[in-house]
Amino acid sequence: MSISKTNISPYVIGTMRLGKWGSNLSTKEYEKFIESCLELNLIDFDHADIYGDYTTESEFGNVLKYRSDLRQKLRIITKCGIKMNTDNRPDHKIKSYDLSKRHIKNSVEASLNNLHTEHIDLLLLHRPDYLMDPSEIAEAFTELKREGKVGEFGVSNFSVSQFDLLNSFTPLVTNQIEISISQRKAFDDGALVQCLKLGIIPTAWSPLGGGLLFRESKDASTKRIQQTLVALGKKYNLTADQVLYVWLKKHPAGIIPVLGTSKISRVKAASNALNVTLSHEEWYMLLEAAVGEEIP
Ligand SMILES: NC(=O)c1ccc[n+]([C@@H]2O[C@H](COP(=O)([O-])OP(=O)(O)OC[C@H]3O[C@@H](n4cnc5c(N)ncnc54)[C@H](OP(=O)(O)O)[C@@H]3O)[C@@H](O)[C@H]2O)c1
Repeated sequence: MSISKTNISPYVIGTMRLGKWGSNLSTKEYEKFIESCLELNLIDFDHADIYGDYTTESEFGNVLKYRSDLRQKLRIITKCGIKMNTDNRPDHKIKSYDLSKRHIKNSVEASLNNLHTEHIDLLLLHRPDYLMDPSEIAEAFTELKREGKVGEFGVSNFSVSQFDLLNSFTPLVTNQIEISISQRKAFDDGALVQCLKLGIIPTAWSPLGGGLLFRESKDASTKRIQQTLVALGKKYNLTADQVLYVWLKKHPAGIIPVLGTSKISRVKAASNALNVTLSHEEWYMLLEAAVGEEIP
């Protein structure tokens, strides 16, 4: 199943906090979570080799091992390229980025094993490696595609020029970047313009600011954002998280939020918000609240 701008789910389901880095779901809880997302027609699951200190892919894969029927109903996105310094990788002396052909291909083999699958639908390069050679990456991608191990390729946290460069060697379908009301760089740095221009899908990590917006805060911007979320929520009968998704979805580039929750009720809430649209002025109200003054 290929992933394209026209068939990607309205939300990608993030897995970063499902295991050791968050909710520590049991295998049965993973299974229930996956099934519930599929029932909502949310079929794209976002992994990375490093999540849970290299343990979350395997935990998810444990479900696919005994529920192989689920594999054809969902699509797997995973990432490679960060080498974490953790007890689970004693050979990594320090944290580094590695987008060499050897590392990309070895990572894919490990992810296929961990996830109990024969192919990854979309492979993302997790972060740009300062030493990356685009022709070597393109070679790795060509081989992985020919071997039937990966369907499509994309990147994450790439600058506009880094994306442009690699995309001129090998086609990329997404740049997964941090976008939220608290991280607005992509609205200004050309990343979303590039997506619009090239017809690329922007996927947004930490769409709720990593959950920090829901905590009591002394930060003035956070407080103003929280007040505006309440006001807009009242008008549309939405919760704060729903307003934040609706705000991202207003952008014409077609931002796909990568959900970070491990609570199915919150995934459902996100899904239920899909039919709401903020007005142009309301979009700017939240922006003004974040910035703290009238826009120039
Ligand atoms: N490419 C990259 O470099 C990169 C980096 C980071 C993340 N990611 C991907 O992006 C995904 C999402 O990132 P994220 O987890 O930071 O996203 P997020 O949605 O901004 O934050 C998720 C956190 O917010 C909490 N939350 C959600 N709704 C809430 C509510 N209504 N009230 C209170 N707390 C709420 C969640 O807790 P509950 O579980 O309790 O709901 C969770 O702890 C990850 O799973 C991963 O797949 C990619």
